[in-house]
Amino acid sequence: MIIAIDGPAGSGKSTVAHAIAERCGITYLDTGAMYRSVTLACLRRGVDLEDAEAVAEVARGVRIEFGNGDAGQTVLLDGQDVTADIRTPEVDRNVSVVSAVPAVRSAMVALQRAVGEQGDVVAEGRDIGTVVFPNAEVKVFLTADAEARAHRRAVQREGGDAAKDAAAQADTASEQAILAEIRRRDELDSTRKEAPLRAAEDAHHIDSSSLGVEEVVSEVIRLMEEAR
Ligand code: DC
Repeated sequence: MIIAIDGPAGSGKSTVAHAIAERCGITYLDTGAMYRSVTLACLRRGVDLEDAEAVAEVARGVRIEFGNGDAGQTVLLDGQDVTADIRTPEVDRNVSVVSAVPAVRSAMVALQRAVGEQGDVVAEGRDIGTVVFPNAEVKVFLTADAEARAHRRAVQREGGDAAKDAAAQADTASEQAILAEIRRRDELDSTRKEAPLRAAEDAHHIDSSSLGVEEVVSEVIRLMEEAR
């Protein structure tokens, strides 16, 4: 079974997809981590991000793997652990440009489909239900208002977890900066020509603004049972 979870940055896709993978014993595929890894590889090599052909060359040449660490899934870029390095503000700022390159997307989609051929997968991203796995048995479009998403990210940057701690606070200035960045990324991700962020026609919409992780997870598991 393939479960596709799409939605904007900070809607809770990773937390929900990860929880479902653990609970159901299936593979978790974080496609955002793949685009982030290509972005990091380009930045490290000093590739001009406006040069689509050079960026595509990097995407076709890198080896991206997922591993298991004490704190959850790890991401390996050409054998090196980049789990933390792909979540920096610098990667945040540049990943939309890299992921808008059609040849980068086709290279990543091929890798993602290869994972899907190996067994049950819960995959999260922007185009999973529309492009990568249009035949996924369960499709979820997870949203939340921009303020709720910025708050979660800000708390996460400071080492907390807003999903588990409703009273968690973050530095106001950094939360405002994250909100501006999220709005900018939403705009770029949903207006790009290639595979823009949009819900598949047959996706179930879930708004997580005022829902806890557990409520969203239970709803997705209910949808999985219904689809069996
Ligand atoms: O989910 P995330 O924030 O880690 O994703 C990082 C970026 O990668 C995001 O700005 C859009 C892009 N992305 C994409 O274009 N397609 C996907 N399937 C997943 C992510």
